[in-house]
Amino acid sequence: MRDKHCGSVSRDDIGKVIELAGWVFRRRDHGGLIFADLRDITGIVQVVFSPEISSEAHERAGDIKQEYVLKVTGRVEKRPPETENPNMPTGDIEVLANSFEILNTSKPLPFQLDEDEPNESLRLKYRYLDLRRPEIQKIFLARHKAYKVTRDYLTDKGFYEFETPFLTKSTPEGARDFIVPSRLNAGMFYALPQSPQLFKQILMIGGFDRYFQIVRCFRDEELRADRQPEFTQIDIEMSFVDVDDVLALGEGLIMSLYKELKGTDADSPIPRMTYADAMELYGTDKPDLRFDLPLKDITGIFQGTEFGVFKKTINEGGIIKAVVLKGKTLSRKDLDTAVDAAKDMGAGGLIWIRKENDALQSPVVKFMKDEEKASLSKVFELSNGDVLFIVADKKDKTNEVMGRFRLYIGEKFGLIDKATDKLLWVTDFPLLEYSELEKRYIARHHPFTSPKESIRNFNGDYESIIARAYDLVLNGVEIGGGSIRNYRMDEQLEMFRLLNIKEEEAAEKFGFLLEALEMGAPPHGGIAFGFDRILMMFLGLESIRDVIPFPKTQKGTCLMTGAPSSIGQKQLNELKIRTVIK
Ligand code: AMO
Ligand code: AMP
Repeated sequence: MRDKHCGSVSRDDIGKVIELAGWVFRRRDHGGLIFADLRDITGIVQVVFSPEISSEAHERAGDIKQEYVLKVTGRVEKRPPETENPNMPTGDIEVLANSFEILNTSKPLPFQLDEDEPNESLRLKYRYLDLRRPEIQKIFLARHKAYKVTRDYLTDKGFYEFETPFLTKSTPEGARDFIVPSRLNAGMFYALPQSPQLFKQILMIGGFDRYFQIVRCFRDEELRADRQPEFTQIDIEMSFVDVDDVLALGEGLIMSLYKELKGTDADSPIPRMTYADAMELYGTDKPDLRFDLPLKDITGIFQGTEFGVFKKTINEGGIIKAVVLKGKTLSRKDLDTAVDAAKDMGAGGLIWIRKENDALQSPVVKFMKDEEKASLSKVFELSNGDVLFIVADKKDKTNEVMGRFRLYIGEKFGLIDKATDKLLWVTDFPLLEYSELEKRYIARHHPFTSPKESIRNFNGDYESIIARAYDLVLNGVEIGGGSIRNYRMDEQLEMFRLLNIKEEEAAEKFGFLLEALEMGAPPHGGIAFGFDRILMMFLGLESIRDVIPFPKTQKGTCLMTGAPSSIGQKQLNELKIRTVIK
């Protein structure tokens, strides 16, 4: 129906008569002349309806409205110099319409496509309109590029692309499963995969050596700005490898994606930090390294303290951590707001100490000994104006609160260099963590992760077992994670023993994998990158919803289709299911 795309009309076409098709983005009626910006996926071109070219076309152009779909035939002309628009790629030409056809009309839109920030609910309900917005279209063209870069890079490295089932059994990634009833097996259910974890391991056992898949994963968890119930992973598994091989491969892929999407190179090599150091210095396993501001453990300074809060913490085995903010002038209100912020993050309280007139000032300095104050001054090299913020609590709580408080301070006092990107490999995660809820150890990554040293070497002190597991972090967001797996049955059974998973239970849940481990499983490991998160971060967007064509709301609903919805009695009958909503 057309000779060219709107965005590709250029000076080279001047003098030619061409056919174009697209949507009317904006329309301006200047009486004598009517202008319409015609838009398609490639861009916008100005069409002019002039009575001197065609009085019939000019007359009918009066009826054209926003978002009408047109087919236009016209001659490309250079614009008169004073009407050139340097902000528009086609701004030096225009198309003088000889004739046109209205292929379709449009009702008035629920929001304007060139509005600055249309309401998100409207955008999601009328996603097809939202998708027409040029800035949104750019995102999905970038997403397309990212698929291609991924496929090219991995194919080049000898990887084979696979598909694995969506109707399957539960895969333990730590979230709840989405469940699908089986009609042919009444009372039985499939689980949608939280990841293809077990299948990719099976493919290694099947001898494929290098696997990848750009794959949808399904997790029923609380949703946030960087979490969707269905999201996409670049899922990777490799045979005969150790940690460094997987990290090198992953790093190469990330560098290629970064270069393609951002047009510049990311800093390489990506630095590495152990989990233990990340927790110690930043209170989190995903530190944002765009600013420094490390945490410092000052429990040692207060071993003999008389200050009640610290004394109690130390007696109960907790820790005291501090950050120092230098070179900023804080008002009393800033300090009070900081205390409230820390409390909102779950802190029992927050102590601030400010150095002023060469003395430490704080409501609590009167409880501190001179040598404690002197130590603080020395350790933090305090100058006048510097402020210390301190939290004392159980170790995990202190780290969690201080990790978040560090981000708060970074954001509030403009310490974060938003123009840079800081990638970081976090390695050497603990294999296990204790679940207060389940009163047992659970796998920190997943139960197939291999320990650095045989579990048999640890007698009771299981929390100190280090896993061959790693995450990739970008500016404080986890964009990937993986591990080297247990490839021998005896190792896997040891792990299940620690997790208190009984043999029958293991056989019931992942019997096929266990059986396969006993028939010549090669050493293997892998990683999965959060494809949507990578796009969100590399494109500088705030929400993962912006990079997913048809995303769900925070409540897991699709505003366009109305999913989830109830189903009819007939379908329930076929499934032999009776619903009772409690
Ligand atoms: P993991 O559970 O760490 O590992 O997931 C890998 C990456 O997927 C992204 N991600 C998400 N993105 C959007 N919404 C979500 N709900 C969501 N959940 C996770 C994150 C994360 O780093 N099978 C293992 C990988 C392996 O061991 O090889 C796995 O799935 O960016
Ligand atoms: P309180 O004894 O509760 O009156 O607290 C004395 C001071 O210690 C107040 O400034 C509190 O904000 C602060 N504080 C209380 N709990 C903590 C804590 N866990 N960490 C740091 N400061 C705290």
